[in-house]
Amino acid sequence: MKLALSLIVAALFTISGLGLSTSGAADGSSLVLTKCTSCHSLKRVCRGLGKKDLAAWEKTNQRMADMGMTITADELDAISNYLANAKPGESPVCK
Ligand code: HEC
Repeated sequence: MKLALSLIVAALFTISGLGLSTSGAADGSSLVLTKCTSCHSLKRVCRGLGKKDLAAWEKTNQRMADMGMTITADELDAISNYLANAKPGESPVCK
């Protein structure tokens, strides 16, 4: 019983781990640095840190994608999750 439970937990971790870093995809902060700087400075992004929650960032980032950003759904997720948890002024994005 205990073994079955830990197997399930291990499986869940494996699945969520895959979701977070599909084939070693860049993490949230470096994605922001590479993807979010082509149209405007990161000041715009930093202004939202600590203010926008995950849903708000998902909405914003989807809008950015609609304006022509080249990005995968996984990368968009990673960015939204990173920004929703980043603190105001957080480096390396706002340093
Ligand atoms: C294709 C060009 C483009 C890219 C790439 C881009 N943006 Fe923007 N962004 C804009 C424009 C244009 C505006 C101003 C107009 C507006 O807000 O719709 C803006 C405004 C913003 C704002 C201020 C408005 C608001 O809703 O808070 C934030 C925050 C923002 N962008 C975040 C991001 C993030 C995060 C990324 C990377 C995931 C990103 N942007 C990538 C074009 C872009």
